[in-house]
Amino acid sequence: MIDESRIRELISLADEARDRSYAPYSGYTVGAALLCDDGTVITGCNMENAAFGPGICAERCAIYKAVSDGHRDFSAIAVAGSPAGEKISQYASPCGVCRQVMREFADPKELTVITAGPEGAYKVYTLEDLLPDSFGPDNVK
Ligand code: THU
Repeated sequence: MIDESRIRELISLADEARDRSYAPYSGYTVGAALLCDDGTVITGCNMENAAFGPGICAERCAIYKAVSDGHRDFSAIAVAGSPAGEKISQYASPCGVCRQVMREFADPKELTVITAGPEGAYKVYTLEDLLPDSFGPDNVK
């Protein structure tokens, strides 16, 4: 199980990544910090687009960066999101598409998902909590 100091470190890195968000259309900035089994932490931020469809969430940005760098084993992901220019004022829960992308690379019972809240608060889930009875790679083997 992930300890509190590691949780706080991941939230801090996610919040720093939030500063690099490109969200001119929604004005909602999100950062994510993905902990790999080898201890590497890879961050991501949401990136929007004038054509709207091509935008990507912070969580998938981090996962795609990680996989493209050769990491496929993940133990935790922290997410920090709120309106741009504000401190973390609300919990940003991963969208359904991001949950499914997490599922591709993780045992739902093993991946810890942390959402950052106001004033240092946070919530901790397993991916199984957020995506029960999921469809995954084993279904199409
Ligand atoms: N967003 C994320 O990056 N992650 C989430 O968990 C929820 C939503 C982004 C997508 C879009 O750029 C903005 O937040 C508003 O939906």
